[in-house]
Amino acid sequence: MANFGVLGTGVVGPTIGSKLIELGHSVMLGARDAANEKATAWAADAGELAHHGTFRDAAQFGNVIVNATLGLGSLAALEAAGTENLAGKVLIDISNLLDFSNGFPPSVGVPSTDSLAEQIQRAHPDARVVKTLNTATASVMVDPSRVPGEHQVFVSGDDADAKASVTDLLVSFGWPASRILDLGGIATARATEFYILLWVQLYSTLGTSEFNIEVHRA
Ligand SMILES: NC(=O)c1ccc[n+]([C@@H]2O[C@H](COP(=O)([O-])OP(=O)(O)OC[C@H]3O[C@@H](n4cnc5c(N)ncnc54)[C@H](OP(=O)(O)O)[C@@H]3O)[C@@H](O)[C@H]2O)c1
Repeated sequence: MANFGVLGTGVVGPTIGSKLIELGHSVMLGARDAANEKATAWAADAGELAHHGTFRDAAQFGNVIVNATLGLGSLAALEAAGTENLAGKVLIDISNLLDFSNGFPPSVGVPSTDSLAEQIQRAHPDARVVKTLNTATASVMVDPSRVPGEHQVFVSGDDADAKASVTDLLVSFGWPASRILDLGGIATARATEFYILLWVQLYSTLGTSEFNIEVHRA
């Protein structure tokens, strides 16, 4: 069992945090403010393995870090977490950098020659960044059986051992190993981060967030 520092109090952070606790891990949910109401309520509900604090507290607590913060705030959140608290650790990046400043449909807040995952890796070169789960809605991330079929999840990262440990974690979430596709290095996160544009459109067209990609090859 591991200690996880989960940064983010939206939908994803508490969903991942609760799943990790169900699996027997200890979790500290991090926010900008140590007294964050959602984090406080989550920790009160989730049992003795659940804790809450600032982004920095959570990063200090975790042997493994999860970035589940708003994409536009992720670099600031991880700076607040402290690069020394990320060094040598697996950093699971679930964020998407959606920019709704010009309304719907949104744009992606990085040029297509870059990704938020790469920006995070550049800002924290000693962290072992693995991009994953950003292509599915939170409920499906931790329970892929909510969507029928042989649909997949993707991993991107430069550190093979880090990707192997994240793959084990995804298996523990219910993703069969055969449905976890390793896309390659961290630059391949561009592909999954830009998929969010299709994801948002499908959400609007299908009227549900519980769908996923199923890739077939000849
Ligand atoms: N929702 C989904 O199902 C889903 C699916 C796939 C990927 N994602 C991605 O996962 C991430 C989390 O999504 P979410 O819907 O759970 O929550 P969210 O509303 O996107 O993010 C909430 C978190 O972001 C932090 N935050 C907001 N503005 C910030 C800033 N300026 N500086 C630092 N931190 C800031 C908040 O901090 P406080 O706690 O202090 O308020 C909070 O912890 C996003 O990047 C999203 O695109 C979400």
